[in-house]
Amino acid sequence: MSSPTPIILDCDPGHDDAIAILLAAGHPGVELLAVTTVAGNGPLDKVTANARRVATLAGLLDLPIAAGAARPLVADHEASVEIHGTSALDGPALPDPRVELDPRPAVQLIADLLDASRVPVTLVATGPLTNIAHALDRVDRAKIGAVVWMGGSTGRGNRTPYAEFNSYADPEAAAAVVASGIPFTLVGLNLTHQAAATPEVIARFEALDSDLGRVVAGWLEFFGGTYRDVFGEPHAPVHDPCAVALVADPGVIETVEAFVAVETAGQWTRGATIVDLHARLGHPANARVAVDLDVDRFWNLIVDAVRELG
Ligand code: RIB
Ligand code: CA
Repeated sequence: MSSPTPIILDCDPGHDDAIAILLAAGHPGVELLAVTTVAGNGPLDKVTANARRVATLAGLLDLPIAAGAARPLVADHEASVEIHGTSALDGPALPDPRVELDPRPAVQLIADLLDASRVPVTLVATGPLTNIAHALDRVDRAKIGAVVWMGGSTGRGNRTPYAEFNSYADPEAAAAVVASGIPFTLVGLNLTHQAAATPEVIARFEALDSDLGRVVAGWLEFFGGTYRDVFGEPHAPVHDPCAVALVADPGVIETVEAFVAVETAGQWTRGATIVDLHARLGHPANARVAVDLDVDRFWNLIVDAVRELG
C-alpha cells in the first residue's frame, strides 16, 4: 500500500466538517497533520471549540488544532445558524475539550507543517477559503501538493440561488486560491448532494454500537432536520467528507478538468462558481471538478473510519 497522503484539514465545524475530521483521522490512506479552523458555519470561537470537542470525542488527543481567520477577506462574517444551530454543532452532547489549542495562528501552523514535511501536503478545505488565501502569501507554494475544496457548485447554490455557502462567505479568498495556479479540485454541491444521509445510512452508524457511532447518527439526524426545514429536502447532503474521501480513496469520485472562476462583483451572483464544463469561454482548464460519487463506496469509507476510531 502506498504511503498515506499528508493533509491539513481547514474547516468550520459544522456537522459535516465534524464527520470530515473523523474520516481524515480514521482512514489509513490519510495522514491528518492538523486541523485549522475558520469562521464559517459559526463564529471562530465556536467552530474552534467544536473542533476541539470532536477531537476529544474521537480520542485524537495529540491532534494539532489552530484557530485561523475570524472574518473573511472583504465581506462580513455570516454564520449558518439555521443549518447548524447556535453552537454551529447542535445536537448530541459533546465532551468538554481536552485537546489544547495550538498557540500558533492557523497560517503559522500551516507554514510550519509545510516546511517540516518531506513531501507536498494537501490542503483540504471544507469552509470558506480565508485561511488558505492568507497562507498563500506566507508559505512556499511548492510545498502544497493540492487544494481540495468542498465549495461552490457546477449548478445552483444553497446560500443564494447561485452561490454555495463556503464560496459566498468569502468570494475573494476563493477567487485568489483558484487563480493561484496550485492544483485545485472543486467538490461542489452537484457532487455532495449525491451523499444523502438516508435512514439506512444513519442506521449503519447506530449499528456500530459505539458512543462515536451514536453521535455521528445524531449529527446526521440533526442536519437532516434542518435541511428538511430550510430546503424541504428529505435527507441531508453530507458535503464535507466528500473532499476528504477524494484524497483518501480517489476512485470514489469521478472528476473532469474545467475552467473555474469565482464571481466577486455580481449584484445577484456574488460567490457563484462559474464552471465551464463545455469550454465555451475558451479559457484553459484550471481545476479538477468532482462530478460523480460512488455512493456505497463513500459511505463504507466513513462507516469504516468511525468504526476504527470508536
Ligand atoms: O455548502 C455546504 C458547506 O457550507 C459545508 O462545508 C457546510 O459545512 C457549510 O460550511
Ligand atoms: Ca464546512
